Amino acid sequence: MKENFEDMIIEPPEEIVKRAHVKDWEKEIEKGKDIEEYWKKKAKDFKWFKKWDMVLDDSNKPFYKWFVNGKTNITYNAVDRWIKTGKRNKVAIIYTSEKEKERKLTYYELYTEVNKMANALKRLGVKKGDVVCLYLPMCPELVISMLACAKIGAIHTVVFSGLSVGALEERIRETNAKVVITADATFRRGRIIKLKDNVDEAVAKCPSVETIVVVNHANVPVKISELTGREFFYDKLIEGEDSECPPEKMDAEDPLFILYTSGSTGKPKGVLHTVGGYMVGVSSTLKMVFDIHDDDLYFCTADIGWITGHSYIVYGPLLLGTTTIIYEGAPDYPDPAIWWRIIEKYGVTKFYTAPTALRHLRRFGDRHPKKYNLSTLKILGTVGEPIDPETWLWYYKVIGNERCPIMDTWWQTETGMHMISPLPTAPLKPGSVTKPLPGIDADIVNKNGDPVKPGEKGYVVIKKPWPAMMRTIYKDEKRYREYWETIPGYYLATDVGKKDKDSYFWILGRSDDVINISGHRIGTAEVESALISHPDVAEAAVIGKPDPIKGNVIKAFLVLKNGKKLDVNLMEKIKEHVKHEIGPIAVIGEMEQVDKLPKTRSGKVMRRILRAKELGEELGDTSTLED
Ligand code: WTA
Repeated sequence: MKENFEDMIIEPPEEIVKRAHVKDWEKEIEKGKDIEEYWKKKAKDFKWFKKWDMVLDDSNKPFYKWFVNGKTNITYNAVDRWIKTGKRNKVAIIYTSEKEKERKLTYYELYTEVNKMANALKRLGVKKGDVVCLYLPMCPELVISMLACAKIGAIHTVVFSGLSVGALEERIRETNAKVVITADATFRRGRIIKLKDNVDEAVAKCPSVETIVVVNHANVPVKISELTGREFFYDKLIEGEDSECPPEKMDAEDPLFILYTSGSTGKPKGVLHTVGGYMVGVSSTLKMVFDIHDDDLYFCTADIGWITGHSYIVYGPLLLGTTTIIYEGAPDYPDPAIWWRIIEKYGVTKFYTAPTALRHLRRFGDRHPKKYNLSTLKILGTVGEPIDPETWLWYYKVIGNERCPIMDTWWQTETGMHMISPLPTAPLKPGSVTKPLPGIDADIVNKNGDPVKPGEKGYVVIKKPWPAMMRTIYKDEKRYREYWETIPGYYLATDVGKKDKDSYFWILGRSDDVINISGHRIGTAEVESALISHPDVAEAAVIGKPDPIKGNVIKAFLVLKNGKKLDVNLMEKIKEHVKHEIGPIAVIGEMEQVDKLPKTRSGKVMRRILRAKELGEELGDTSTLED
């Protein structure tokens, strides 16, 4: 935290205040102190087939329940209800890509597509509570499939298309997915990435999978054995299906989706979200934070394979009846102006991206954004990692032309929705996430749960439940409890932060062994287990090393087998192996061969020591070191 930025205050533009749903930020925070009352009011914006009996049930902590016994359907609220309004012919989704191809679907078209897919899934034997795995690029069929699952009560588990065979197999196996929906391929920077091939390899070891559905997305030939009655092309599958499908009446606490994310130890965790609270939390935060109105054109550059895409490309915008852009490709291809071109072409008003992309694009110079008319923009957003004040100011000046407030939104896969973030009418400080949102009780505390003094570092905690909170870790209740039991009674986010003298929050980074690479969470344990599964690697430890663009990169320390030497050839092989096991996001920036790893007497690798040596920091307490 730099002192000078703590004192820099940027007031909201008058035009924004005039129009804002929430005029008085501080007053709204005050109103949000009665969390039950606050979220109850928000829940009234939706269609409930049966009203809830109780807003919050906290009788079995930390297994909280929201909108108890309420019955609803999130797809009904995101799609069906707009068909009876003036939004019927409004564009719901604009798909565009680095090839600058375009496809638009109105709410009515989305409605019929979702219904056909929902009926097709039913015909395939998918029932309420079954898991469907979606391994798809950014394309309309991914959105349609998610909504189709939710319509009939199936649980979707989206696997980011940048993940590879090993990760895909693990997720299918753990969830016992019945159906996998994929595509022939996706593309990035002009390169084709075959997805169906990965599915074939993964599914070979997953007996739960009964059917594979393939979207012909990139016109790449694929092997598909329609004769077995097990594999279908998407278009053929939905051909002739009825375009009406009644919504399943879902309990507010029925599961909606499982989304895997990295934790500090062991395998990725299957974060489980449920229907009612997620619907209420996600749409009302989007409405407040991005001040969504009917005439907005909203563009979030995340991938639907991560929580930002789930909450704020698919569910949030559609629940508000907004037009949402889905973009497939890289931010800098065919040139580093592609996003600015999209903003000009469609007249984007609300733009939401990640610090890593901004740092990357800023390097190419101001001439790219300056070439385009970005004057339609009203509010900008950022998410995924701390944004440094310099990049914040560049975003504010060059992209927003000093007219657009920046919403630095802190949240997590587990929280489901924005938690600490300004509203457009808040006075901002570059690099600060400002304050917890109305209805959210967050703080910075020490290990005992006591608030720390202004300027002191501490842990980010949430003190009271919130509607879109995860309900459990799939098949691992123990890991769910850990979030609430490490500091008893509080949700521990495993981030470190500070509050300044004005009670503004500054997020400093993770406090656990999760590495944040370009806004993607990767667990050291995952990378290490991928490394160790290579035949020449005996032991491995990885650390995150700060990187000016990516935030962090991975550095791996390896003990090799049988006197092997880590030459360029072997390095390449090991990198390829990790790519196959996890995916291209797990980029190993550096590798170093070592004779042994620093360990505790109980045999745990002390990554802290490796990190301190690598970064030239103090070693700290070494009393538990074995040697
Ligand atoms: C980090 C992404 C600083 C944080 C929505 C958190 C942030 C992790 C911010 C969650 C922000 C997210 N400022 N750090 N505005 N937003 N983070 O689950 O370390 O992919 O714990 O969810 O990203 O990553 P996840």
